[in-house]
Amino acid sequence: MTEIIHGLDGIVVTETRLSRVDGEAGKLTIGGFPLEELAPRACHEEVLFLLWNDRLPSQAELHGLRAELSARRAVPELTRQVVRAAAGQGAHPMDALRMGAATLALRDRDPRGQSRAANVDRALDLVAAFPTLVAIYWRGLNGDTEIEPDPDLGHAANYLYMLTGEAPDPRAVRGLETYLNTVVDHGLNASTFAARVIVSTRSDMGSAICGAIGALKGPLHGGAPGPALDMVFEIQRESLRSGGDIAEVARGWADRTIAAGERVMGFGHRVYRVRDPRAEVLGAAAADLFEGRDDRALYEDARIVEREILAALERAKPGRRLQTNVEFYTALLLHGIGLGGELFSPTFAVGRVGGWTAHVLEQIDEDRLIRPRAAYSGVFDRRWVDLGDRGEIAG
Ligand code: ACO
Repeated sequence: MTEIIHGLDGIVVTETRLSRVDGEAGKLTIGGFPLEELAPRACHEEVLFLLWNDRLPSQAELHGLRAELSARRAVPELTRQVVRAAAGQGAHPMDALRMGAATLALRDRDPRGQSRAANVDRALDLVAAFPTLVAIYWRGLNGDTEIEPDPDLGHAANYLYMLTGEAPDPRAVRGLETYLNTVVDHGLNASTFAARVIVSTRSDMGSAICGAIGALKGPLHGGAPGPALDMVFEIQRESLRSGGDIAEVARGWADRTIAAGERVMGFGHRVYRVRDPRAEVLGAAAADLFEGRDDRALYEDARIVEREILAALERAKPGRRLQTNVEFYTALLLHGIGLGGELFSPTFAVGRVGGWTAHVLEQIDEDRLIRPRAAYSGVFDRRWVDLGDRGEIAG
């Protein structure tokens, strides 16, 4: 009898030097660095260089990478039109991103090239263009004209600039750098695995990245932060309406939601059995960002809501060790940076595309088709019945 490991839990299918997730200890290592050492200090280009080259860049190398990415921010006209049309029809932001990403192959300098150089070139193109795609979508959604990229701004700052058209606040830029660095890679998560499966067939990087966007869209993966923040707002509103203490309202809300069999967004994880270290880093980034601001109460309320939900999860599922995951503080941080809820998932993709491309490069080197098996649960030895003899419902 074959043992079935549903969801491939705990199955190790490859090696990677990119990141390590220690779910029991709650530790995330990215390119050899503890997350908390790297994410709040590095600019995103340094982390991209680290993933692609397995070391930090020198000053000249960082300058070179920034110039490379900056030169590739503009997207083909057809790409622009596709994303704009998707926004015009109110498409889901991740669908718009996927449609746009699919057309980036139009500017491939060596469309059939299989060399590492050709693939690194594609990685640079994709990473550089993602912020532009999201910005085109966002501006289109709001009926605004697009903003040309600013070559003098870094990757994160330019993303904010293209979204808003305003010179970005340095605190918001730092928050976004920390966010992008925090989500850049996370072991063999579903979207990264999807990308590796696709490229393991010797398909191309663009196809792998489009598949990864599709996987990240789902609410069990990258689609959770919007609902996580909505939950905090809902609890705040209920507390205002009823005049009840926010902790009490959160407790009641959490108990009701869990009893109804619903999942609380921003909590639980397939691998972590302790607090997601990314929640720690993003929580600290959110604390810095909200410090001294008029809307600091939102941060304080979110902490209370988090505490009450954790207690409610422990009451309802004792011993399951459901903890805060990355999405809870993602929502708070990105909201504090000024991004709307529709931008949460695509901004996750803006960060994760660096990891996806690095994994695709690793998988191309490994060159081993990923092909697990399924246990057959159907019947055997059916006999053919001609169409005219099948009656109303064919057997
Ligand atoms: N709220 C309520 N109950 C939960 C939650 C939650 N957030 N997470 C897990 N549970 C419950 C399950 O219902 C299940 O209960 P049961 O055993 O009584 O049926 C039990 O805890 C075990 O859950 P699993 O399904 O085994 O957890 P799994 O490892 O498959 O799921 C997942 C992990 C999908 C992240 C889950 O915790 C979840 O749905 N969380 C909410 C969505 C979310 O925050 N997604 C973002 C994840 S982070 C990321 O991908 C970047």
